[in-house]
Amino acid sequence: MGKTAVVYRSEYGSTKRYANYIGEKIQADILSTDEAKDISSYETIIYGGGIYAGAINGSDWLKKNQEAICNKKFILFTCSLSNPHKEENIQAIQNGLKQSLTEELVGHAKVFFFPGALDFKKLKFTHKGLLTVLFQYLKHKKQRSAEEEGMLKCREMPMDFVDTSEAEALISFAKE
Ligand SMILES: Cc1cc2nc3c(=O)[nH]c(=O)nc-3n(C[C@H](O)[C@H](O)[C@H](O)COP(=O)(O)O)c2cc1C
Repeated sequence: MGKTAVVYRSEYGSTKRYANYIGEKIQADILSTDEAKDISSYETIIYGGGIYAGAINGSDWLKKNQEAICNKKFILFTCSLSNPHKEENIQAIQNGLKQSLTEELVGHAKVFFFPGALDFKKLKFTHKGLLTVLFQYLKHKKQRSAEEEGMLKCREMPMDFVDTSEAEALISFAKE
């Protein structure tokens, strides 16, 4: 395995927990997108970002570095509140990746999907506002899926589904 960087963007820390775990396990450099200014010396890039309104966080960094990334081994992981063990949720995240990234990046990436966390009380003002609109919509919906019921519960209590053992398959793939 060549020199590897785990680059992440994390608003509330769940993606960062996976990035730290992966980086330590494979002895890679662990960099936030602000720190990852020059990635030319790496052979492998592992990128992690949370899913926000369907799109991956840090898509600007990925697009800016697309040329360099597409010449390397590229592994992408997402961190989301929707359960990534459900096929329909994976499909939705994949569609979001296609919309927020370029075809080249998505085509070049091996993608992994990890469960995230959310503590409504600790959200930034703008994020609280966005979710409040979503909650209002869900509350008035006649029939809600189990996923949507789960979303509504976020308002009452913090949710934390982060489980670093989920990253083992990614780690094995990175080592190949
Ligand atoms: C404003 C907002 C929008 C979100 N949108 C989605 C979404 O569309 N789908 C989803 O599965 N999770 C969504 N989430 C949950 C985040 O993906 C989850 O909190 C993730 O763990 C955040 O990772 P981070 O703290 O590393 O940034 C959203 C969270 C916030 C605050």
